[in-house]
Amino acid sequence: MCRWCSVAALLLALVPGVWADYPGVGRPATEAELALWDSDIGPDLQRLPAARGSVSEGRAIYAAQCAACHGDDGRATDIFYALVGGVTAADVARGRVAGLQGAQPNDVSTLMMLPTLTTLLDYTARAMPFGAGGSLSNDEVFAVTAYLLHLGGVVDGDFVLDRSSAELAQQRLPNRNGFSTDHGLWPGAAAADGGMGNGGIPEPDSARCMADCDP
Ligand code: HEC
Repeated sequence: MCRWCSVAALLLALVPGVWADYPGVGRPATEAELALWDSDIGPDLQRLPAARGSVSEGRAIYAAQCAACHGDDGRATDIFYALVGGVTAADVARGRVAGLQGAQPNDVSTLMMLPTLTTLLDYTARAMPFGAGGSLSNDEVFAVTAYLLHLGGVVDGDFVLDRSSAELAQQRLPNRNGFSTDHGLWPGAAAADGGMGNGGIPEPDSARCMADCDP
């Protein structure tokens, strides 16, 4: 037995109820407490906040709070690889990024990979600006996201991102069709039925394809 394991085991054994419930300890979380954590927004966009932000508002926020690390145009910098770039109009049309084939990791921008708009919104809201994650308002998150989509050639310069236009932006994401959901890890209806799941059946026989694969 390791040097401290016997001590640790003894201490655990002394703490009452380590392997059982804690009668009389704690209480159920209240609805209000749960609501603070219940912030997930699925790719169906149903739970998006009622926020709004334009490309031009986003341009100003980006210049003030993002460009120092991500560069004026969102291309690769010494800090991080590119947020945008490597996407063509044909990619936007078909929802798969041709440049991903054979690309080196450093040449892959965030926008080239991104399958869902909520991923970008959520990451920006929680984690950016680096070191001050959570400091942007919902409107600012929407605006700077609209600007990034514009920088990446996904939306026009007069685009305003809000609940009603989010679906449009989602339908133009360059790699929206680049991910399989046929792996049982997504809940909900199968893709053929308009959902993102496959009925919840995990696929354990992972026959891996490395060349000439099905799209
Ligand atoms: C102080 C430097 C800094 C600032 C300012 C900053 N970022 Fe970042 N950003 C980073 C770093 C570093 C990462 C990578 C973090 C990691 O992988 O853990 C990152 C990652 C990201 C990503 C994820 C990219 C990916 O593919 O994973 C996005 C999106 C992003 N930043 C957007 C923004 C936006 C929008 C702003 C302004 C509101 C911003 N950043 C401000 C340094 C910064």
